[in-house]
Amino acid sequence: MDGERDATTPDESRPPGADGRPRPSRKTVLRAALAAGVALPVSMAAVPALARGAVGSGTGPELTPPCDDGDHPTPEQIEGPYFKPNSPERTSLLEPGTPGTRLTVTGYVFGRACLPLAGVLLDFWQADTNGAYDNTGFRMRGHQYTDARGAFTLTTVVPGLYPGRTRHIHVKAQAPGRPVLTTQLYFPGEPRNNTDSLFDARLLMTVRDAGGAKQAAFDFVLDVAQSPSPTPTPTDPPPGTTWAVGTSYRSGDRVTYGGRTYACLQAHTAQPGWEPPNVPALWGPA
Ligand SMILES: [Fe+2]
Repeated sequence: MDGERDATTPDESRPPGADGRPRPSRKTVLRAALAAGVALPVSMAAVPALARGAVGSGTGPELTPPCDDGDHPTPEQIEGPYFKPNSPERTSLLEPGTPGTRLTVTGYVFGRACLPLAGVLLDFWQADTNGAYDNTGFRMRGHQYTDARGAFTLTTVVPGLYPGRTRHIHVKAQAPGRPVLTTQLYFPGEPRNNTDSLFDARLLMTVRDAGGAKQAAFDFVLDVAQSPSPTPTPTDPPPGTTWAVGTSYRSGDRVTYGGRTYACLQAHTAQPGWEPPNVPALWGPA
């Protein structure tokens, strides 16, 4: 079957395209852009940065780039050779006796406006401390959902190295009803980061030592449209409706609030705390 591979042969190298010629990778395009002197966003300058830093900055965050490991030409096969569906739901991949350096990965998942996304499916899979994938069971595999704050925590071990790859964790991220982002997370300071053709500095986690363990952080940014401001868009009030925050009222408009009817005295957009009984300058008895 096309999607089956010899799981004992780690091979996430980039094969030629359908025409037999090597396909350009994203990094090839990136290098070409650099060579041509094309200005690149700061976020592409190989500096690991948490997307939460963009909150309130007024600038949109860079999307988490998909990491196409290039070993399958069709969309339903881009997971790479070691993905398995139906992983157990769990935030910790540790099992009794799991060897390896303990690692926690924490972060948030944001949408395009850097607002947190709740209920995002995150499906992690990785090699164990010896660089081996469990392709018969579900060791080092698990999925979870971001909480109401868009936050997640993964408890695991530092994945081991295996031939041809630098150290990495695979993950699929999917906001409810949205396409799946398949990508990989990387560790800073790894010698093989310089030679792994799949490595992408935009996918570097921040990692620090914590008493013999490691604590890592990474924020995902998914291509999910969000209102850039929590301020409601002003709307004209339907006649005879109840007062509502965010509504644009004109002098003479009538609303009901608390069982009473009020008339608008001067045009304004309703804000929290400007309920008709509280602001006699804006509302009078109808
Ligand atoms: Fe892998």
